[in-house]
Amino acid sequence: MNKVITLGQFIIEKQADFPYAKGELSRLLRDIGIAAKIVNREVNKAGLMDILGNAGSTNIQGESQQKLDVYADQQFISALKCGGECCIVASEENEDIIRLDTDVSKNAKYIVAIDPLDGSSNIDVNVPVGTIFSIYRRKTTAGQASLKDVMQKGTEQVAAGYIIYGSSTMLVYTTGKGVNGFTLDPSIGEFCLSHPDMQIPERGVIYSINEGNYVHFPQGVKDYIKYCQVEDPKTNRPYASRYIGSMVADIHRNLIKGGIFIYPVTSSAPNGKLRLVYECNPMAFLIEQAGGRATNGKDRILNLTVTELHQRSPIFIGSKEMVKKAESFNLLNEILQKS
Ligand code: AHG
Ligand code: MN
Ligand code: MN
Ligand code: MN
Repeated sequence: MNKVITLGQFIIEKQADFPYAKGELSRLLRDIGIAAKIVNREVNKAGLMDILGNAGSTNIQGESQQKLDVYADQQFISALKCGGECCIVASEENEDIIRLDTDVSKNAKYIVAIDPLDGSSNIDVNVPVGTIFSIYRRKTTAGQASLKDVMQKGTEQVAAGYIIYGSSTMLVYTTGKGVNGFTLDPSIGEFCLSHPDMQIPERGVIYSINEGNYVHFPQGVKDYIKYCQVEDPKTNRPYASRYIGSMVADIHRNLIKGGIFIYPVTSSAPNGKLRLVYECNPMAFLIEQAGGRATNGKDRILNLTVTELHQRSPIFIGSKEMVKKAESFNLLNEILQKS
């Protein structure tokens, strides 16, 4: 039996990578792990609890909040507040930033941006959902931390990752020194190292996009989809089309098997659908750390300027060679007027 390395042990062992850190980031990652276990417990018995269906409220995105969206949001915010290592939380489910102003938290040095429950449309049908998190160091040095501390470029992230509540529950994260995956062992309630040093294959044969929006895509995206579907044994085409509808699940599959995930601009979503701060940036940091690539069809996601908390961006992310090939198509061209 292999030696079991828990998330906590791993974080402490990796502490040596950060000689100047005094353990705050380690404790912050621990707090996220605790909230993940609590959310996992509810996701796993959702059908038995009054936690399915919608909460009867609408979030800033204009989406009707699912009960699990609200529950996960509350659990992560409270775990971060109790942990005391985070001074501000920016969440998909809250219009404004949330200041954690307990005596300890208000002087904390980290900011957390979070998508507490990703893939909400899949909650009631038992399809994998996730949580996405992104951690920044506070930049302001005096007074209260502010929105400026949140709206940093993706290159400034100190850590990022996701939890996938799937056939097993995994926590996958990076602190800028590679990507490691931990599987929750419910018998001991610990995330245990199961996927050390994860690397995304340079090439793959899976493309992941909601083809239901085909008529609304730019011509370049349509041309790339056709490229994926053409028979060419030399380049292992046609590729397989796989789309789960939870960004975390689609990207986790591609991280392991290789592939490209695309959420492009469409005529109804001129900036794309996925949010830069708590979906695109954390996933881009993680996939780059695993040897992959993430752009908006032209520019590196991590270099994009953040102008609004909930701003959206198109995203092409995954196996490096596949994203580069897709970029040779004009992916951001004007949406062709419907003929
Ligand atoms: P969220 O549930 O956090 O709002 O995110 C849903 C996102 C993402 O998980 C997924 O890739 C995408 O929405 C699916 O969008 P479509 O249903 O438009 O394909
Ligand atoms: Mn949502
Ligand atoms: Mn999401
Ligand atoms: Mn969400």
